[in-house]
Amino acid sequence: MLCVAMNTSLYLCIFLSFLSGFVKLSGLLLTALASWYLGCFLSTLIPEEVLSASITNLQDIGKKPVIRAPDPKRQKCDHWSPCSPGSYAYRVLSGGGKEKLAKICFEDNLLISEAKGNVGRGINIAIVNYVNNQLFIVSTDHSADMVAFIANAPQGSLLFMVTHDDGSTRLKNDAKKVVEELGSKEIQNIKFRSSWAFVAAKGFKLPDNIQKEKINHSGKNNRYGGWPAEIQIEGCIPRNLI
Ligand SMILES: *[C@@H]1O[C@H](CO)[C@@H](O)[C@H](O)[C@H]1NC(C)=O
Repeated sequence: MLCVAMNTSLYLCIFLSFLSGFVKLSGLLLTALASWYLGCFLSTLIPEEVLSASITNLQDIGKKPVIRAPDPKRQKCDHWSPCSPGSYAYRVLSGGGKEKLAKICFEDNLLISEAKGNVGRGINIAIVNYVNNQLFIVSTDHSADMVAFIANAPQGSLLFMVTHDDGSTRLKNDAKKVVEELGSKEIQNIKFRSSWAFVAAKGFKLPDNIQKEKINHSGKNNRYGGWPAEIQIEGCIPRNLI
């Protein structure tokens, strides 16, 4: 009841409000009493099992489905989202300063890493058999005799390459040419301490839409003193390319 809206005196209004409140309250009490009594009365009529069954149903309705965020699952090669079962996961990360060593991960196996103790300064290469996903060979500190090394990769191989520290000084022109023939667009641009990551296939073609190569050059914006920021390529390689 809104007293301001009424034209009677304030006291009367308050009294009326009180009265109406009281009436409402007693009405409520009466209803409660009546329903309690009705409940008792009905329960004597309804057999016990029926009652307990309907109570269980009510409890079931009250139960909310428990929605919990699933535990974050670690994906192969620390991807954010998993590769489909029909593909291989890869991640190639260049070195970043003296502390962060380069990594080559394939199907969750670290082929080259600090943990493996096999990161060399220069260009690190891992060659994997595409068909059975087995490691064929790893080469660290490879800038000098890359031509022969790459030539030895069998048809049907995946070649992962990544720099740690400097991969350019000892890299010869014939090696650059071989890498270029594998599809690299950046190997000719590599400079002192450029961060470079590259994946290629020998004997078959990788899909156009996957990350294959990145480079970052050393310069005045270097993240680690004399080193540019690390660079990485990652993705999923379908298993049905051959
Ligand atoms: C290249 O490195 C610089 C710092 O060294 C960094 O600011 C920049 O984001 C890097 N570029 C790429 C493409 O990662």
